[in-house]
Amino acid sequence: MNVLVLGSGGREHTFAHYLSKSEQCKALYVAPGNAGTGQIATNVPLSVTDFKAIETFVIDKAIDMVIVGPEDPLVQGISDYFSETEALRNVMLIGPSKRGALLEGSKERAKEFMAMHNIPTAAYESFTAESLAAGKAFLETLQPPYVLKADGLAAGKGVLILNDLADAKKELTQMLDGKFGDASRTVVIEEFLDGIELSVFVLTDGKNYQLLPTAKDYKRIGEGDTGLNTGGMGAISPVPFADASFMEKIENRIVKPTIDGLRKEEIDYRGFLFIGLIKVGDDPYVIEYNVRMGDPETEVVLPRLKTDLLALLKATYQQKLDSVSLAIDHRAATTVMLVSGGYPEKYAKGKPITGLETVEGSIVFHAGTKRQEGATVTSGGRVLAVTSLDEDFRKALKKSYQNIEKLHFDRMYYRKDLGFDL
Ligand code: AMP
Ligand code: GLY
Repeated sequence: MNVLVLGSGGREHTFAHYLSKSEQCKALYVAPGNAGTGQIATNVPLSVTDFKAIETFVIDKAIDMVIVGPEDPLVQGISDYFSETEALRNVMLIGPSKRGALLEGSKERAKEFMAMHNIPTAAYESFTAESLAAGKAFLETLQPPYVLKADGLAAGKGVLILNDLADAKKELTQMLDGKFGDASRTVVIEEFLDGIELSVFVLTDGKNYQLLPTAKDYKRIGEGDTGLNTGGMGAISPVPFADASFMEKIENRIVKPTIDGLRKEEIDYRGFLFIGLIKVGDDPYVIEYNVRMGDPETEVVLPRLKTDLLALLKATYQQKLDSVSLAIDHRAATTVMLVSGGYPEKYAKGKPITGLETVEGSIVFHAGTKRQEGATVTSGGRVLAVTSLDEDFRKALKKSYQNIEKLHFDRMYYRKDLGFDL
């Protein structure tokens, strides 16, 4: 098969790494890709939301399968574009239709979906500029902290958690006034849930599903989960506290009703579903749905998957996931993100990376890197993800940290405390 992966981060390098090992993979392209994907696939300078340019490329190279990494093209309807375009209709696109992608593209829609299908989540109400007064009154009925969420995609910045009522009212006013552009024209206010977070990954064909390994990511820049939110500073799989009885609750109360809901609503959903959960007492609640794999969670989930990835995705497209049995590596996987100093605020790019060829016993997935004048240099905030596998996550982390000692770029930073809360 000729395969195209859309995206340029650690997630996409990880996909490319495992796809390239499949015997069925004839030609592999990544658009736009990074220095890591460039070593195992052909990078193509295409924007992931330029559907017309993607169409031309797919036809030109006789691409059989397109795997969509990030959410933007999905929310903009790339799957519908493929099914509505004669020449693309038979291309296997992995990712949900626009209606499916709304589970991530609109927090209000996600909450309505959960309410409709009795899926446990925080109580909520949503407001617009017209109902600002009602929104303020609703805040007064809640206990702090107050959780405000921009309805639309806001590059991971659209959720605010505030301790003070006056601050919450002020933020609500600013959000409805366009603080996050159109994304915050509607704001969901929800009950604060106190617990520990984990993520569950599901591969579904819209009828059947397979549970992939669980993972926990570390979102804050600082040790002890302090400071600004990032795209993710590292991840661990499996999540030690997600034991069999807790997983049974997740599957029965959340995963099955979600897949049933997609089917009842006749939503074409052939792709990954990433469910962000919080464990309150002994019970799971949904924090959010994402309609794609996580980054850096992919860097620990796929290394534990022993089943051929390309065959699995083909079965997904063909709605034959019920005929597949997954083989999962029992070992733990960890990944540590190396980021540019200053991230997630201002940081420099173009810094040469050294030591890549000296890494042993870990896999380095590239995130923000590119080739420049024969060297590999930084080109983003998150630069490299160093993944290791071992009997338990502490041993795996130790391997990653040992290899990180050999890697260098100017103002390289990473968290040394991953797993501190487990
Ligand atoms: P989201 O973008 O919806 O994943 O929210 C970002 C982060 O905000 C989550 O990972 C949680 O840490 C936190 N969060 C979101 N909703 C809630 C809630 N209802 N209660 C507590 N924390 C929340
Ligand atoms: N690591 C969180 C995400 O991919 O959204």
